[in-house]
Amino acid sequence: MAKKQPTIMDKLVSLTKRRGFIFQSSEIYGGINSCYDYGPLGVELKKNIKELWWKSMVYERADVEGIDASILMHPRVWEASGHVEGFTDPLVDCKNCKMRWRADQIDLEKGCPNCGGELTEPRMFNLMFKTFMGPVEDDAHVVYLRPETAQGIYVNFHNVRESMRKKVPFGIAQIGKAFRNEITPGNFIFRTREFEQMEMQYFVKPGTDEEWFEYWKEERFKWYDRLGINKDKLRFHQHGPDELAHYAKAAFDIEYEFPFGWSEIEGIHNRTDFDLSRHQEYSGKDLRYYDQEADEKYIPYVVETSTGVDRLMLTTLVDAYTEEEDRVVLRFKPYLAPIKAAVLPLVKRDGMPEIARKIEADLRKRFKVFYDEGGSIGRRYRRQDEIGTPYCITVDSQTLEDGTVTIRERDSMEQIRIDKSRVLEYISERVMP
Ligand code: GLY
Repeated sequence: MAKKQPTIMDKLVSLTKRRGFIFQSSEIYGGINSCYDYGPLGVELKKNIKELWWKSMVYERADVEGIDASILMHPRVWEASGHVEGFTDPLVDCKNCKMRWRADQIDLEKGCPNCGGELTEPRMFNLMFKTFMGPVEDDAHVVYLRPETAQGIYVNFHNVRESMRKKVPFGIAQIGKAFRNEITPGNFIFRTREFEQMEMQYFVKPGTDEEWFEYWKEERFKWYDRLGINKDKLRFHQHGPDELAHYAKAAFDIEYEFPFGWSEIEGIHNRTDFDLSRHQEYSGKDLRYYDQEADEKYIPYVVETSTGVDRLMLTTLVDAYTEEEDRVVLRFKPYLAPIKAAVLPLVKRDGMPEIARKIEADLRKRFKVFYDEGGSIGRRYRRQDEIGTPYCITVDSQTLEDGTVTIRERDSMEQIRIDKSRVLEYISERVMP
């Protein structure tokens, strides 16, 4: 029987485990479904993606401020937001094999997609994780793990506006964990029950929302160029009336073509004044904005951009993964690479390790670097290619004579020689976002 060829996803799962990007959570206990841990290289990739997003959304803009709200919020927040009532998926069980499915994702006429067995009637299932605040486990003490970071922004609308003296239009950005008890998580880190969101809520004057919606759609699509994503693999998908979330008047997804098909990596939503109006109603606090120039009060409309760090990690990994004749390369943008440079003495003698260690120490002040003196130089280069390290610095016999080192670039494999005193400057110029 022919051996099944590994798919790109199989290869990525294996590479990311072997090289310290992504491990299964609680692996020594057999793992826990859809939970993953980021290893030493994964945590760097994740941090670099978050920093790029924060830089473009917060630092480079005068009209957006950042916050970090708590995961646990007052339970009324989720009543006001509509999540207690409306954040549900229809669930069916197979009476034969007991597998669970989302009724809206399968053909109910055909029965269970796994075994063809008879399915139960669909029942609505709330996706919020529930727990209790304090020692008493009763209804009065229920709290939820937030299913979106957005609400932490809405409830802080006036705090941020007042403290930072903002005028509408302005935005609030946040990166943080969110939790959804998905019926069918899957595709590695694409859909997990615990994940990290990067969301920005942009508050605008009613009537200007459609214009701002168009603006943010274009702005966010362009951003994927900075993330280094091949634009032929990106597209917009407009939500039809049956796909719109309970808060949205209009929504576009940015989709990426994964090996498992086109799937959403970011949503841009026109949430109207739904959230702030509801919070005004449920909290009894005036959440209107006083527009001094027009001398009027209104509840701002919100244009939201919402993406997930884990999804963007998978996107960058899939997009960067390249198989060449005799090597595998992760062609990350240099600033996304977990390790910016590897320092390699050609041989373990003649003073080369000492010079290489000095260069390593110098670079370490600024970036994550790696020192490697084991094995053939070709093999060492390939180990760095496989994790996407953009530059390898080699100390060789010429270094002993004239103080120059080689710098090898990952994608072209071209090598240049520069003086060892210029290495820090050379790498710095090339690995900043
Ligand atoms: N805040 C929108 C979402 O979580 O999808």
